[in-house]
Amino acid sequence: MRLLVTGGLGFIGSNFVRHVLKSHPSWTVVNIDVLTYAGNPANLADLARNPRYRWVRGDIRDPRAVAGCMEGADAVVHFAAESHVDRSILDASSFIETNVLGTNVLLDAARRLSVGRFVHVSTDEVYGSVEQGFSTEDDPLAPNSPYAASKAASDLLVRSYVVTHGLPAVITRASNNFGPYQYPEKALPLLITNFMDDLPFPLYGDGLNVRDWVYVLDHVRAVEFVLLKGKTGEAYNVGGTHSCTNKELIERVRGLMGKPASLVTPVPDRPGHDRRYALDCRKLTSLGFKHAHPFEAALAKTIAWYRANPAWWRPLKKAGGYKKYYDKQYAGRLVGRRAGAPKR
Ligand code: NAD
Ligand code: DAU
Repeated sequence: MRLLVTGGLGFIGSNFVRHVLKSHPSWTVVNIDVLTYAGNPANLADLARNPRYRWVRGDIRDPRAVAGCMEGADAVVHFAAESHVDRSILDASSFIETNVLGTNVLLDAARRLSVGRFVHVSTDEVYGSVEQGFSTEDDPLAPNSPYAASKAASDLLVRSYVVTHGLPAVITRASNNFGPYQYPEKALPLLITNFMDDLPFPLYGDGLNVRDWVYVLDHVRAVEFVLLKGKTGEAYNVGGTHSCTNKELIERVRGLMGKPASLVTPVPDRPGHDRRYALDCRKLTSLGFKHAHPFEAALAKTIAWYRANPAWWRPLKKAGGYKKYYDKQYAGRLVGRRAGAPKR
C-alpha cells in the first residue's frame, strides 16, 4: 500500500508512521508536514534512511503541494491539525485554516485523484461535554472549544464528500492520547516534565474534569485497523482503557515519580472547559479491535520515555512557545517558578 500521511511529524502521526512501516514491510509512506511548532523531524529521525519513507515539507492548505504528494497514493491518513485547545482559546484562526480549509483541500484532491481510502483522524471533543453515559458515533456534534468546533466542521465536510462525491472516507474519533513524542504543552507531558524539574503543574479549576486516556500505540493501531476494515461513511470511536479525573491522574503520576503534592498548583479554569468525555467504543470492538496496552504499564512506560529522552523535550521547553498560554492567562507567575520559591 502507498500511503499519504498528513502531519506525520507530530505526536500521533509520527507514532503511526513508525508503526505501519514496521508492521507492513511492503508499505510506503509519503508524509506531508509543514512543520508548525508541534512538528518535529526528530520524531522520525530513525526513519531518515528508510527507502520506504519520504517527508515532504508542505502545507495541506496548498492544493498544488497536496496534489503532488497524493498522486499515486492508495490511501490517505489525515492527522495534520492544530491540536491544542488552549491555543484555540487565544486565537482560533489557524485552527479554522488548517483543520477546516486544509481538510477540504485534501478531500478535494482525494476525490479528483480517486484515492481508494481516506481516513480522517478526529476527536471525542466533537461530542462536547458528556455529563452522563457514553457518546456513540450517531450522537449529535456539540463542540465547545474553537478547536473542537474546527474538528467537528472537518468531520461534517468528510461526511459531505462521502454523500455527495462517493469518496471512500472513514472517521476515527479518539480520546486523550498519551505516550512518547507528545509536545510538552499537553497535560500529561507537561506534568511529567515539570515534575522532573520540580516545577509546579497548573491544575485547571477543581481538577474534577474527566478524561479517557488511550496509549498512542493503541490509537495508531486503531487507525490502521479502520484503514483496513472500516466501512465507508462510518465514524469509529477510539477510547482508552482508563477514565479518571485530572486529580486522580496527577495522583498516579505523583506516586510513580515520588513527587510532593505541593507541586500541584490550582489555577483559574480553562474557559469553556468540558467536564467529561466518555466514548462508547462497541462499534470498533465489534469489528474485532482489541487494545494491547493496559493503562498502568503504558503510563509507567511514558514516564520512563520522558526520563530517558530529555534531549527531545528540553529544547522544546527551553524555546518557551509552550508557555505562552500560561503567561497570558496567569501572567507568567506559574510556569518557571521552582517549587518552594516565593511567588512573584
Ligand atoms: P500535533 O499537534 O502533535 O501534530 C500536528 C502535526 O500536523 C504537526 O507535525 C504539524 O507540523 C502538522 N501540521 C499542522 N498544520 C499543518 C498544515 N497546515 N500542513 C501540514 N502539516 C501541518 O497533533 P497530534 O496530537 O499528533 O494530533 C494529530 C491528530 O489527531 C489531530 O488531527 C488531532 O485533532 C487528533 N487527535 C489528537 C488527540 C490527542 O490527544 N493528541 C486525540 C484525538 C484526536
Ligand atoms: O479528547 C481528545 C483531545 O485531547 C484531543 O482532541 C486534543 O487534541 C488534545 O489536546 C486533548 O485535549 P484536552 O484539552 O483534553 O487535553 P489537554 O492535555 O490540554 O488537557 C487534559 C486535561 O487537563 C483537561 O481537562 C485540561 C487539564 N489541564 C491541561 C493543561 C494543559 C490542566 O489542568 N492543566 C494544564 O496545564
